[in-house]
Amino acid sequence: MVLTGFMGTGKTYVGRVLAKKLGTTFIDTDTLIEKDAGMSIREIFERFGEARFRSLEREAISRVSDQESSVIAVGGGAIVDPANLEALRRNGIVICLTASPETILSRVERNSDRPLLQVNDKIGKIKELLSVRAPHYAKADMSISTDDKSPDQVAEDIMELLKSGWQRD
Ligand code: S3P
Repeated sequence: MVLTGFMGTGKTYVGRVLAKKLGTTFIDTDTLIEKDAGMSIREIFERFGEARFRSLEREAISRVSDQESSVIAVGGGAIVDPANLEALRRNGIVICLTASPETILSRVERNSDRPLLQVNDKIGKIKELLSVRAPHYAKADMSISTDDKSPDQVAEDIMELLKSGWQRD
């Protein structure tokens, strides 16, 4: 099972809670990339640029996408690359977490570990990226809003949806 969605939609928190509830392992591809590179995502962007990060991301996704029983959270830009989306769809259901630009801003503004949001007009940048990425997020099998919900509530929502039996058309 795969969690995608924009930065600040809670993929990591929800993924951790969900994996625990399901009694399975949680994989966060950003954490894997940082471990392998021995540096933070921010540092990878600063020293080597976004293109290098995207190639490390592609590698990490191809490495973990066969782990069908795990909950896998990927970075917000991952599914823009069709090869990533294809690998993740083979893994199983792809769930997109969503949130309003204002919610996203409130969740990300205090930390500086997201290189793409290190700009003055953060809400403008969030809206711009959201609109560019909307067609990609729309390719997920289902979307769940995380506005005004705790990670636990979102995880419960996902469990409910899964209980009703899911199949890709
Ligand atoms: C990115 C999202 C980040 C991280 C990187 C790029 C993006 O992950 O992969 O900073 O392009 O949206 P989160 O979505 O977990 O913040």
